Amino acid sequence: HFIHRFKGLTSIEDQIEKRLNIKKAIIVPGNANEDPMVLREIGKVTSAYLKSLLRPNTVVGVTGGRTMATIAEEMVEDTTKKMNITVIPARGGLGKDVEKQANTIAASLAKKLGGSYKLLYMPDHISKDILTSLYEDPHIRDAMDFVQKIEVLLFGIGRADKMASRRGLSQDKIEELIQHSAVAEAFGYYFNKNGEIVEEINTIGVSLNHYKELKHIIGAATGVEKAEAVMAISKLNPNMVLVIDEGLAIEILK
Ligand code: BG6
Repeated sequence: HFIHRFKGLTSIEDQIEKRLNIKKAIIVPGNANEDPMVLREIGKVTSAYLKSLLRPNTVVGVTGGRTMATIAEEMVEDTTKKMNITVIPARGGLGKDVEKQANTIAASLAKKLGGSYKLLYMPDHISKDILTSLYEDPHIRDAMDFVQKIEVLLFGIGRADKMASRRGLSQDKIEELIQHSAVAEAFGYYFNKNGEIVEEINTIGVSLNHYKELKHIIGAATGVEKAEAVMAISKLNPNMVLVIDEGLAIEILK
């Protein structure tokens, strides 16, 4: 808290909360584009904030990505408190990069919290037919239904163009997204700058309606290039708690 006052970040936090019309902004000093330690600090601060929201039997949803992976790494292990926390990926999506997958992150968060986890065995892009048949498997169905129980959501915010190519969308599809003015991606949905849906990936996970009703949502992001994306996502639900670096915050306030 001293460092906050010293660097005057409290006032930036207030300004971000007002500008984005969100519940709370937590700003980590420094610029993540220049200093890799800033992402670590985001991990520490966000994991501590997540912990403060946990109550017995809380169901936590988490997405994938580098930011979420760092939060899980920085979470302080706490197996003494038996709170029966369950962590579940907020959406399906098995990609190439295991460390950054929501499944992996859900499992490591659960372990650190002394809780349990459920996995979603689902590729990123999947046809409706396959989804329907997967649903017939009792384990998969159990996890798919469990997604509805998420009360606290921890999620990453991405740029639409970056996430589309990371998810291996075709060049045509990427251009279509850009043409439709998609600037942001979160939990499988692409949004324009007004927070309106441009495209939704056919996978299982938190629906936009579910997201809009959540009371406890923590979005974390770093890097000035994410300014537009963060602004768009902030429009979806005013209950959002946003954890970002100072560099990104200044870019948003420009
Ligand atoms: C993904 C989330 O895994 O991480 C996305 O599902 C988000 O919603 C993205 O956009 C952000 O990734 P990163 O690596 O920039 O933290």
